[in-house]
Amino acid sequence: MKAVVYKGEKQVAMETVDDPRIEKPTDVLVKITTTNICGSDLHLYEGRAGFEPGRILGHENQGEVIEVGNAVTRVKVGDRVCLPFNIGCGFCDNCEHGLTAFCQTNNPDPAMVGAAYGYANMGPYWGGQAELLRVPFGDFNCLVLPPDADEKANDYVMLSDIFPTGWHATRLAGLQPGESIVIYGAGPVGLLAAHAAAIQGAAKIMVVDEHQDRLKLAEDFGAVPIDFRAHDPVEQVTALTGGRGADRGCECVGYQACGLKREEVPNKTMNDLVKSVKFTGGIGVVGVFVPQDPGAHDELAKSGQIAFDLGTFFTRGQKMGSGQCSVKRYNRRLAELIHAGKAQPSRIVSHEISLDQAAEAYRHFDKRDEGWTKVVFKPAA
Ligand SMILES: NC(=O)c1ccc[n+]([C@@H]2O[C@H](COP(=O)([O-])OP(=O)(O)OC[C@H]3O[C@@H](n4cnc5c(N)ncnc54)[C@H](O)[C@@H]3O)[C@@H](O)[C@H]2O)c1
Ligand SMILES: [Zn+2]
Ligand SMILES: [Zn+2]
Repeated sequence: MKAVVYKGEKQVAMETVDDPRIEKPTDVLVKITTTNICGSDLHLYEGRAGFEPGRILGHENQGEVIEVGNAVTRVKVGDRVCLPFNIGCGFCDNCEHGLTAFCQTNNPDPAMVGAAYGYANMGPYWGGQAELLRVPFGDFNCLVLPPDADEKANDYVMLSDIFPTGWHATRLAGLQPGESIVIYGAGPVGLLAAHAAAIQGAAKIMVVDEHQDRLKLAEDFGAVPIDFRAHDPVEQVTALTGGRGADRGCECVGYQACGLKREEVPNKTMNDLVKSVKFTGGIGVVGVFVPQDPGAHDELAKSGQIAFDLGTFFTRGQKMGSGQCSVKRYNRRLAELIHAGKAQPSRIVSHEISLDQAAEAYRHFDKRDEGWTKVVFKPAA
């Protein structure tokens, strides 16, 4: 089959590799019809996450079931399925509690929990930026899509990661109807956090970034765009909330947050958030922070630390939640919103291309080039 293979720092290539096959009776084999590049893939692409050259990328996958193992009873050949980026087992302590991002079964590293397709430190699983994908524990992991699966393919594929992740950011922050929320980052995750906040009835949504094309999309989702380059974002949020700060805040940028000279300032968004969220407000952190980052310029960041304004956070009596999104907690209900026409996450899609354009697409998306908001591949086209 054809697949997008990581070759080393800032290098990917479409190559022909062996087809995956059913290895365990609980596996399902999927012909991939839509698969995306994610901001999380960029951490791998930039050589900052220890992803091994030769591995296949891609954790935002959707397709058609073409074969099922002997122990699979629910999922059928021909089903259109969207696959959560987390690979859960369904029977460990964490999966039983809906925390599939922290599955205790599927990561072979005894010191780690959680598994994902085509990702560093998340087990040996192949990515889905390819023609075929092996899905472990198929009955548990496949979300079988409604009859409009093909027509709304670019909406449903966002259920594999970024729509649930954006939604999760607002839930970690504790958003209630009628509240205000500030979202740092207008990448795909931040934009869909804004979409989630609007659906949940936020009275005011503010999105902070510097890229005008992305801020324009935030505005289309009903948010007030805040350009952090034009003026201090904390002051802008404070002014927009009558001097109090936002009720809730979301971090959708991660450890490679930029300062004004486009230099990496890993603590920038976290400290800006603490200052732009009100006393007793809630903060949800879904942007990725890593336990080690040997490639960092900042000494603290090399060992996964940031200089965090804990004193201000404490004084303000805020609450914070963080971590990977357990996609299965949300994807079934969010699919219903898409089916009912009440959510349209595909609005962020800027490019629909074939796998052989992967190298170019990664280059543009990595540079956040204008107009490159979200790339979807159509391997079967
Ligand atoms: N928790 C999870 O389960 C999960 C899932 C998917 C993605 N993520 C992470 O979410 C983050 C965002 O992903 P994405 O796909 O939207 O990627 P992205 O990298 O395209 O988006 C990040 C955005 O943040 C903006 N930004 C940079 N510095 C900023 C600053 N100081 N203030 C405000 N905005 C700033 C950038 O301009 C960019 O538009 C990444 O760290 C990604 O790894 C986490
Ligand atoms: Zn992703
Ligand atoms: Zn599990």
